[in-house]
Amino acid sequence: MPVIILGIESSCDDTAAAVVQDGVLLSNIVADQEVHRKYGGVVPELASRAHQQNIVPVVDQALKMAGIKSGDLSAVAFTKGPGLLGSLLVGGAFAKGLALAEDIPLVEVNHLQAHILVHFLKQPGTDVSMPVFPFLCLLVSGGHTQLIVVRDYLDVEIIGKTIDDAAGEAFDKCAKVMGLPYPGGPLVDRYARDGNADAFAFTKPAITGLDYSFSGLKTAFLYFIRDRLKENEDFIDQYRNDLCASVQKTIVEILTDKLEKAFSQTGIREIALAGGVSANSGLRERIKKLAQNHGWKVYVPDIGLTTDNAAMIAMTGYFKFLAGEFAGLDSSPLARLPL
Ligand code: KG4
Ligand code: ZN
Repeated sequence: MPVIILGIESSCDDTAAAVVQDGVLLSNIVADQEVHRKYGGVVPELASRAHQQNIVPVVDQALKMAGIKSGDLSAVAFTKGPGLLGSLLVGGAFAKGLALAEDIPLVEVNHLQAHILVHFLKQPGTDVSMPVFPFLCLLVSGGHTQLIVVRDYLDVEIIGKTIDDAAGEAFDKCAKVMGLPYPGGPLVDRYARDGNADAFAFTKPAITGLDYSFSGLKTAFLYFIRDRLKENEDFIDQYRNDLCASVQKTIVEILTDKLEKAFSQTGIREIALAGGVSANSGLRERIKKLAQNHGWKVYVPDIGLTTDNAAMIAMTGYFKFLAGEFAGLDSSPLARLPL
């Protein structure tokens, strides 16, 4: 009997559903929410309502694309946290209802663990090379920046994390200072391609150990732009590409300096990137260079699997299903859920 898992993701502003059969992706549907763009960030109340509107059609489409009916499912997996509580509740309540209706097990998934385990997802007809345990994962998203030693599918240890903003937040906040819409990370990436990364220098935080800090950079960037605008009101328009390239270079160096440190401390050469910011072309390029210097084997998810998606939830649900880790129908999402 094949193991067929439906994954449901609703932790932030993407309503997503995906079907995985024996670790192979059959369908992967994401509905993002336009409604937040004009507010320059995610509005939690609006996100919950949009999830409520999207969840049924998104799941329906995921099942249809996979060519299955809900009665074929072995289990339903959902994001328990971390995330926005009102958003998580929509996916969680739907998953419970489906588990009850189909009399199938319910599986809780930690969103961060799912970002890591996306590396084990197989695509039909393609051979992916997968990280070998133990590997180091740099998890960089809008809400999290962590260095993790992954010893097994369900055995992880955080060895470094941000003490304030996440890397994605740093991208988004600097983008906002330049008047770019939310989420600004992908736009900074795009403008940076035509810019000079050495045009402007921003100081990197002096933090010992493997922890990160990004709030100082955001403030330095804000003051720098404010001062330049006093002398030249067209400063941002004239130097947008250089500004994006310079700030991106700084964020990437902050991320990779600690990754190199983690490598020298652990000796682990298997390196995986995960989370929305791992789509960044500057980060991908720098990691490739470092891989040559240090003899790393680097794993980067397909672009479509870096940002929030339900394929990673279904995949993690698959591993938990095999391990017999099921949740009761009294399971409830948690906004703060440690890895
Ligand atoms: O993993 P994700 O989809 O959601 C969270 O769990 O947070 O990550 C979203 C974050 C946003 O901050 C977005 O700006 C950033 O990932 N991001 C990027 C790029 N693509 C997405 N940042 C820099 N360059 C990109 N190409
Ligand atoms: Zn995420």
